[in-house]
Amino acid sequence: MASNNYSLIIASLIPILMTSFVSASNNFYQDFDLTWGEGRSKILNNGDSLTLSLDKASGSGFQSKNQYLFAKIDMQIKLVPGNSAGTVTAYYLSSQGVTHDEIDFEFLGNLSGDPYIVHTNVFSQGKGNREQQFYLWFDPTADFHTYSILWNPHRIIFSVDGTPIREFKNAESVGVPFPKSQPMRIYSSLWNADDWATRGGLIKTDWAQAPFTASYRNFEAVACVWSPFDGFSTCNTKSSPNSVDAWLNEELDSTNQERLKWVQHHYMIYNYCTDAKRFPLGFPPECAVNTT
Ligand SMILES: *[C@@H]1O[C@H](CO)[C@@H](O)[C@H](O)[C@H]1NC(C)=O
Repeated sequence: MASNNYSLIIASLIPILMTSFVSASNNFYQDFDLTWGEGRSKILNNGDSLTLSLDKASGSGFQSKNQYLFAKIDMQIKLVPGNSAGTVTAYYLSSQGVTHDEIDFEFLGNLSGDPYIVHTNVFSQGKGNREQQFYLWFDPTADFHTYSILWNPHRIIFSVDGTPIREFKNAESVGVPFPKSQPMRIYSSLWNADDWATRGGLIKTDWAQAPFTASYRNFEAVACVWSPFDGFSTCNTKSSPNSVDAWLNEELDSTNQERLKWVQHHYMIYNYCTDAKRFPLGFPPECAVNTT
């Protein structure tokens, strides 16, 4: 009797233990803290979704409870619809301090019908200035789309709906620091940047349209979660703990390399690695390593 109960308890605990062990989940209460905007950020539907809003008084934001040292994260985002000119929705990984590392997606709003710009950047040891910008091949305000960051020791890959748009390779061999030792949190915020965001600051935020709202759902992470208590990371995956190494070594196969080239050819509107005016003395060394 006692042992029966015991095994029953164990059996019913296993799924609970497994779900708490894996960092993947779809619950915003469990994974994130609302950190900015006093009620302008909201977790809805029992944790299934989250919204950020911006009005004239304030923007809003959230951050992950966990700190990650390497991760593969997906978030579905529906960007501010209508006239979103002047607004910026930032979604990024960042560590703390002046020599911080950072991996950025920033979505620059626009007038109704005009295209958003997806701005990307990578900081290592406090140094950024590695911008690439893109248009999207769909209207990012009409529905949710998946924005992903793969960050492993070898490379950082930005993807949209599973299509890679940017790869930043580890270029330590040519003296460029790579983010690999500072744990990062996930951050997102919606804020007013009408001094630069839309057509370089020409188009201002139309406050008559406020509040502006961006929505989030289906966060998923396979990641190494860093513990502030012992400084160790625990790596795990969503489906099977045995495939832990797969994403840590993931690279673009030939199909994905072709897709990356397609995006860069048709949708890339700025690449610091081809901006000769900005780098009259020669491009940063990682540009030779990141030829796509
Ligand atoms: C907004 O639309 C204009 C006109 O099509 C375009 O030049 C610009 O790149 C678009 N995006 C932003 C964020 O300014």
